[in-house]
Amino acid sequence: MMARGMEGALEVGLVGCGNWGRHILRDLVALGCRAIVVARSPESRARAGDGGAAAVVESVADLPVVAGVVVATPSATHAGLIEALLGRNVPVFVEKPFTNDAETAARLVAAAPERLFVMDKWRYHPGVEALRDIARSGELGPPAGLRTTRVQWTSSHADTDVAWHLAPHDLAIALEVLGAIPEPRAAHAHVVDGEAVGIMGLLGGDPWHVLEISHGYVAHRREVRLVCRDGSAVLRDAYADHIEVARAGSPQPEPERRPISGEMPLLLELRAFVEHLQGGPPPRSSAAEGLANVRAVAELRRLAGLGA
Ligand SMILES: NC(=O)c1ccc[n+]([C@@H]2O[C@H](COP(=O)([O-])OP(=O)(O)OC[C@H]3O[C@@H](n4cnc5c(N)ncnc54)[C@H](OP(=O)(O)O)[C@@H]3O)[C@@H](O)[C@H]2O)c1
Repeated sequence: MMARGMEGALEVGLVGCGNWGRHILRDLVALGCRAIVVARSPESRARAGDGGAAAVVESVADLPVVAGVVVATPSATHAGLIEALLGRNVPVFVEKPFTNDAETAARLVAAAPERLFVMDKWRYHPGVEALRDIARSGELGPPAGLRTTRVQWTSSHADTDVAWHLAPHDLAIALEVLGAIPEPRAAHAHVVDGEAVGIMGLLGGDPWHVLEISHGYVAHRREVRLVCRDGSAVLRDAYADHIEVARAGSPQPEPERRPISGEMPLLLELRAFVEHLQGGPPPRSSAAEGLANVRAVAELRRLAGLGA
C-alpha cells in the first residue's frame, strides 16, 4: 500500500540533507511529496527544516512507513544504509556512486534487483537525451564514439577520489547514448603528490568512449561529443540551451543549433522515481546498470594503476 500523508501527498524518505540532499529535498517538495528527512547534525536538521521537510528523524530506523526512500549521504555510507532500508520492501533511489567497490555493489544487486535504483542524473539531461536520440535514430549514421570532458578545480567530496566522484557521470552518459558502457581498455592517471587528480580513459572500440576527468583543471568544463559516421553532435555545457549538430563533408559546416529543454536533470529523475512509486515505470538506472558502472570505474582505476 502506498504511504500517503493526511493531505493525500506521497510520503518519501530522504536520508542525508547535506549540500546535495537539500536540492533533492527542494525537488521532492516541488513534486508535491511529504519528505521525511533523516538528519542528525544541527546543520542538516536546519537545512531539512528550512527546505520544507514534513518531519525530521534521527536515523533510518526512525523513519515511518514511506512509499520509497532517496539516499543522499557520502558514498562510503551507501551500502550500509541501503542494507538497513531493504527490509522495508520499498524502492530505494541512491545517489551515485552506487558504492565504492564492485563486490559490495554486486551483493546489493543480488539482494534487491528490482527495488534498488541509482541516481544517474545525466541520463535525464535533455542534451544527453537529444544525443541519444541521434545515435539511436541513425540520423548521422551509426555512432563511432563518444568523447566526454568533465574537468574542474578540486572537489568538495573528501571520501571519493576523482574516479569515483566524476567517472560515474560519464559512464552513465555512455550507457544512455550508446546503449551500453563500453569495456575499459586503457587509462592513465595524472598524479600530483601521490594523489590522482585526473584520469584519461579509453573504453570500447566500436563504438569507443574517451573520457577525461580532472580535479586539477583551472576551469569548470562539461562537454559531451557524439561522433557518428556522417557527422557529429555536441552538448557544450551542462547549462547549454541547445546541442550543435554538424554533418561531415560540407566545407566549414555551420552547425545547426538544436534547442533543448532547460528542465533540470535532478528534478526529472526525481519525478521519474516519484511516478514509479505511484505505479509508473522504473527510473534510470537499474541496480544492474549501477553495478556495471561501478565495475567500469573499478577497472579504469586498475588500468590507471590506482588499485581496483
Ligand atoms: N548527482 C550529482 O550531481 C551529485 C552532486 C553532488 C553530490 N552527489 C552525491 O550525493 C551524496 C551526498 O553528497 P553531499 O555533497 O550532499 O554530501 P554532504 O554535504 O557531506 O552531506 C552528507 C549528508 O549525509 C548525512 N549522513 C552522513 N552519514 C549518514 C548516516 N550514516 N546516516 C544518515 N545520514 C548521514 C549527513 O548528515 P549529518 O550532517 O547529520 O551527519 C549530511 O546531511 C553523495 O553520494 C554524492 O556523491 C551527487
